Amino acid sequence: MSAWAAEAAPAKVNLHLHVTGRRPDGYHLLDSLVVFAGVGDVVRARAGEGFAVAGPEAGALAAEGDNLVLRAARALAQAAGVSAPVGLALDKHLPVASGIGGGSADAAAALRLLNRLWGLGWPEERLAALALPLGADVPACVASRPCRMGGIGEALAPAPRLPAFGLVLVNPRVALATPAVFRARDGDFSAPAALPAGWADAAALARDLGALRNDLEAPAIGLCPPVAEVLDALRALPGCLLARMSGSGATCFGLFAQAAGAAEAAGRLPAAWWRWGGGLHAPPG
Ligand code: C5P
Repeated sequence: MSAWAAEAAPAKVNLHLHVTGRRPDGYHLLDSLVVFAGVGDVVRARAGEGFAVAGPEAGALAAEGDNLVLRAARALAQAAGVSAPVGLALDKHLPVASGIGGGSADAAAALRLLNRLWGLGWPEERLAALALPLGADVPACVASRPCRMGGIGEALAPAPRLPAFGLVLVNPRVALATPAVFRARDGDFSAPAALPAGWADAAALARDLGALRNDLEAPAIGLCPPVAEVLDALRALPGCLLARMSGSGATCFGLFAQAAGAAEAAGRLPAAWWRWGGGLHAPPG
């Protein structure tokens, strides 16, 4: 039996999320500045067979055939004409259905990992095109570096130059279904944000982000009132520069000047919540 190869599947955080329109097929057009946190799942693969899910958040997820890791592996094997059997494992650390792209990150990590393991050498854009049918967030997760997201999630552009900053992530342990949150949104569509070329420090970033929104925050609070409690708790933490929900929730983030301050602040939040604090994920290369 060969050794396991591993790939990080970092959490996606939407620093702002404007819903700018809706396509005839019901999918929403978005404008979002996306970053990846230094916490995530891990996908492993080796020559062999089988699929196992383990880790602190594994409970909510069965190792079934429709798991996004397996769907990603099947899609790549089929598109690349690979028939060799592969064994896959998922270490689940991110809460499921929580707005930080856990399932999308897992699918994207599986694509990157198998591209390497099978020696395919597919460029990122080709993996991203294969990724889109697996979920609107999966192309951004294939990149797993800060980006500006447009379209329904597939139109990716480089992010403005980001300063160092810290993040606290908190989930009240309520799963929120993305389609329900989009359905609950009403009112006008937003314009895309006007962002500068970059920010000198975390305070400047937080100030500009403060003028923007997550348009899904209000509908998510309507469906899941604990989101408002989480936001209040984040805002009460010393050093929190901005608190906002990520994606379709219920996970919220706090923005801090430094990773160390964020890690310390996360420890002050109720242990009944899923919580993490630290810096950004930095992919190699
Ligand atoms: O693509 P994904 O499976 O992540 O999307 C789940 C659901 O979220 C979609 O079926 C749709 O209802 C909603 N969605 C949307 N617009 C997006 C992304 C997701 O309306 N850009």
